[in-house]
Amino acid sequence: MLQLRREARLTIRPVGPFDLGRLSKLHKACFDEGWSRADLAHLLSLPGSFGLVVRLQEAGFAGIEQARGVGFALCRVVRDESELLSLGVVPEQRRRRIAVQLLEAGMARCFAGGARVMFLEVAVDNAGARALYEAHGFERVGVRADYYLRADGNRVDAYTMRCDLDRFVRG
Ligand SMILES: CC(C)(COP(=O)(O)OP(=O)(O)OC[C@H]1O[C@@H](n2cnc3c(N)ncnc32)[C@H](O)[C@@H]1OP(=O)(O)O)[C@@H](O)C(=O)NCCC(=O)NCCS
Repeated sequence: MLQLRREARLTIRPVGPFDLGRLSKLHKACFDEGWSRADLAHLLSLPGSFGLVVRLQEAGFAGIEQARGVGFALCRVVRDESELLSLGVVPEQRRRRIAVQLLEAGMARCFAGGARVMFLEVAVDNAGARALYEAHGFERVGVRADYYLRADGNRVDAYTMRCDLDRFVRG
């Protein structure tokens, strides 16, 4: 468990069936093309798919503990390959190493599920996410033209990145 402040703690847990509404809100807070509850239910029903959600627990009114979702990762394992389908942290909680925790937890779980490589797509202009992935062993292996649709209607290319999990997952 990562300590943020004395009164706030982060926990990472697998997404359950009752988390889909919360997860959809989180996804919409992070991406222009937010995924609906139905999109997420379909995705998580595919064999090998799983989600992780980070909750921030803090003392609320009268010292009663409250928990709220602040980030998520969605992954899929197919035999010895895996994919990071989506990763996001709500804007007000960024730059606190939450994505690092999620990415490492997702990579470890995929590795434990038999995957030896992980692939992902990242927008070519998403310098922050690219830095995060490169620091975790991901390398560019391709480009997908017009992959993402932005809120302003523009499309942006994505890099496909690949990581050898056995070199980067800590035992
Ligand atoms: C990308 C994203 C998940 C990062 O989440 P985060 O919790 O803020 O990231 P972390 O604090 O764990 O950052 C880890 C490292 O990534 C890099 N990084 C993350 N955000 C960055 C930014 N805005 N600018 C530059 N580098 C950044 C840095 O190297 C950072 O390490 P540092 O803080 O020690 O410099 C978050 O900004 C987000 O949800 N963005 C919108 C959705 C998105 O783009 N998801 C990825 C799609 S592939």
